Formats: sequence, structure tokens, C-alpha cells
Amino acid sequence: MTDVPTPAAVLDDTPPSAAQTRAVEEAIATRRSIRAFLPTPVPEATIRRILAVAARAPSGTNTQPWKVYVLTGEAKERLSTRVMAAYDDPQELATHAEEYDYYPVEWKSPYIDRRRKVGWDLYGMLGIGRQDKARMHAQHARNYRFFDAPVGFMFTIDRIMPKGSWLDYGMFLEAVMVAARAHGLHTCPQQAWARFHRIIMPMIGASADEQLVCGMALGHPDWSRIENSLVTEREPVEGFMRFVAQPSAGDAA
Ligand SMILES: Cc1cc2nc3c(=O)[nH]c(=O)nc-3n(C[C@H](O)[C@H](O)[C@H](O)COP(=O)(O)O)c2cc1C
Repeated sequence: MTDVPTPAAVLDDTPPSAAQTRAVEEAIATRRSIRAFLPTPVPEATIRRILAVAARAPSGTNTQPWKVYVLTGEAKERLSTRVMAAYDDPQELATHAEEYDYYPVEWKSPYIDRRRKVGWDLYGMLGIGRQDKARMHAQHARNYRFFDAPVGFMFTIDRIMPKGSWLDYGMFLEAVMVAARAHGLHTCPQQAWARFHRIIMPMIGASADEQLVCGMALGHPDWSRIENSLVTEREPVEGFMRFVAQPSAGDAA
């Protein structure tokens, strides 16, 4: 493979071609969470390249707070087996908890409505009813097999790194997912793993200084699976954007 492009490779102001614009927009906009993968392997060189491109993500004072564990083959199977056993055993499950809040403790609109919608859209597609706890459990458990993807990432951060570094981390994660699209691959970011950090961290060889951020599945989608037809909605730009050209009424100065 050719070298990863560097910022220095673009030194002029030549406008992008329509194809370049389209390619970048498509890589971003065709990313979506895939929840059923084919066993088709992803070459190690592709994984390395995706991570090399993603590492061009910005971070405050270039701290680059990310660390990635790439799980394939037997190591991935062993981790999945161990975590699924914990998830399926109510007594053991009760002993595992996330180290950080990903979601608000108290929900409010519009977030709770969006959350419910995506949940029911997914379960509805799969024919899982609102009372069908066993099938909900089984569907959630698919997280712990990386939805059958051939590659599973575990992302960790040094415990001393504060909230700002988590902002950097999010940019890196998005860059990984977008870079994967450039290779025709798809992903699913997975916070579901975070609950099982006590099992995962020793199994991947992470140190006590590290904290588990999340996992991610990477591979080729199985388009025959209904769950992969889920395309989530977005608020139109007008819903979350204001142009501020005039001082607002609250600006007393
Ligand atoms: C950090 C992060 C963690 C997520 N964790 C999970 C997860 O554990 N399991 C899952 O099925 N989806 C997970 N998602 C996917 C979201 O549900 C998804 O991004 C959202 O519904 C929007 O859909 P889209 O990704 O298809 O655009 C996660 C997304 C993010 C950004």
C-alpha cells in the first residue's frame, strides 16, 4: 500500500474535484452502525492503515491519548466467551459496572425520545416485542461477539487524562470509522463492553493505569441481515444550528 497521506502533501489551494468532495462526504455519511458481519477476514495491513490514517485526528497539544488493542482469531473468541458467560449469569452480571457514565443519570427530552426511537426501531425490525426480555437480552449479547465481526477493537485511555482527552478520543474513534469506510469496511462502536472492564483489561494485557473507553467491531457487513437495514434519523441542521451575526438580547455589553 502507498504511504498514508500527510498534511504536508496538500500545500496548495487547488479546490477539490467533485469526485474528491463526494468521496469524503460519502465516507462520513455512509458510516452507520452495523450489527451483523460476515466472517470475511480483514487483512492486517488494512487494519494498520486505518489506524495510521485515524491517528491524524487532532488532540489537545498533540497528546494523542488513544491506545488500541486489536482482537482477532482465538483471542477474540476467548474474550467473547468469557464476557458472554458473565452477561448470561445474573449473579455475576450484578458485580460488573461501568467506570464512567456514558448516559445521563436522569434523562430528558429530546434525548430520551431519540434513544427510545432507535431502540424500538431496531427491536421492531427484529420482531422483538417490548415484553420479550429474553430476546432483548440475546440481541444485546451479540455485542459481546462483536456482532460476528472478524476484528474487534478495544480502546483504552490513561487514567490521568481528563475530560478534554475524551473529546480527542471521540475524534479518533470517528476517524477510525470513517477511515474504515475508505476501505469499503463498516464498524459498530460499542460502549456495551465498558461494563466488563474487569474481565477485559487483564485479558487484553492492559495495565492498571488504563481505563476502557469502548470497543468497536470492524468488518464486512452481512447485508442479508435485517438489522443492517436500520438507517437512523438526524435532526435537520436548522434544529441544532443558529447563525449568530447580531448580538443576542442577552448580550448587555
Ligand atoms: C461511543 C459509542 C458507543 C456505542 N455503543 C453501542 C453499543 O454498545 N452497541 C450498539 O449496538 N450500538 C452502539 N452505538 C451505536 C449507536 O447506537 C449509533 O451510533 C446511533 O444509534 C446512530 O446510528 P448510526 O451509528 O447507525 O448512525 C454506539 C455509538 C457510539 C458513538
